[in-house]
Amino acid sequence: MHVHDLLASDIDNTLTGDETALRALADEIRDLRERGELWLVLSTGRRIEQVIEGFEAEGIPVPDAVIGQVGTEIFLPPFRSGREPLEAWAAHLHEQFDRATAIRFLEGVDGLVMQPDEFNTQLKVSCFLDGAPDPEAAATEIRGRVARSGGTYQVVWSSGKHLDILPAASGKGRAIRFLIDNLGLEVGRVIAAGDSGNDRSMFDEFGRGVIVANAQPELRALAEGQSEHAEFYFARAPYAAGVSEGLRHFGVLRDDRAESAS
Ligand code: GLC
Ligand code: MG
Repeated sequence: MHVHDLLASDIDNTLTGDETALRALADEIRDLRERGELWLVLSTGRRIEQVIEGFEAEGIPVPDAVIGQVGTEIFLPPFRSGREPLEAWAAHLHEQFDRATAIRFLEGVDGLVMQPDEFNTQLKVSCFLDGAPDPEAAATEIRGRVARSGGTYQVVWSSGKHLDILPAASGKGRAIRFLIDNLGLEVGRVIAAGDSGNDRSMFDEFGRGVIVANAQPELRALAEGQSEHAEFYFARAPYAAGVSEGLRHFGVLRDDRAESAS
C-alpha cells in the first residue's frame, strides 16, 4: 500500500487570511490527494458546522478527517452538519473530564468572559481573557490551578485571548495520533501547520511542521525549544502562502521556481 504523507493543518489564520493563496494551495492539495500521495486532516477550534460552511464559503479544501473543538471531537467523511463526532474518542475523553470541575478552575478571575455556549461542550470549557487587566497573568494563574489539580486537565492558551480547559488526553496532536492509530493509516511523515497556541500540541506530538509568518509569539517560541530531531519550518509568507512554502520546503509540493535558488 502506498504510504501517504499527512498534512495536519489548522484553519483560521493558517489556511485563511489570503483567499488567493488559499485557492492555489487548495488546488494543489486536491491534486495530491487524488494521486494518493497525501492525507489532509483539518484540525481546528471551529465546530464541524463552521468547517463545512467553509468548504463553499471560504474555499477550505475538503479533507480526509476533521478534528474539531480544539481536538475534543473527531469527524470522518461524509461531512454533514448534525453528524456526531467519533464515539470512541469521546468515550475515551469522558473518562477523565468533568465539566463542573473544569469550570471551577476559572472562579474569581477578574475580567474573564465565557465563550458562547456552542464552544462550551461536555469536553471543553472555553473563555476569553482579553478583558482581564493582565491576560497573561490570568492565564498563568489558571494554568497553576490546573497543574496543582493533578493531571487529567490541560490548559490551552492562544493569541492572548482564548483559554480552553480540555481533557489532558485531548488536543489537536493527541486527536490526530488517535486517528492514525485507530484507522490503521499508512502514514509517512506528518506535517503540522499552524499559527497559534492551540496548534502547539501538533508540533509537540509530531516534531515537524510549518509555522506561518503571521504566527503568534507562543508558536514562535518553538524556535528556541527546537529539539535535536525537530524540523520546524518558519515560513517567510503568511497564511496559506506560508503553508505552501513549507510544503515545498519539505518536498511535499514540488516547485519549478526552485526554492533553493532564492
Ligand atoms: C477557536 C475556538 C475557541 C477556542 C480557540 C482557541 O477560536 O472556537 O473556542 O478557544 O479556538 O483554542
Ligand atoms: Mg489558527
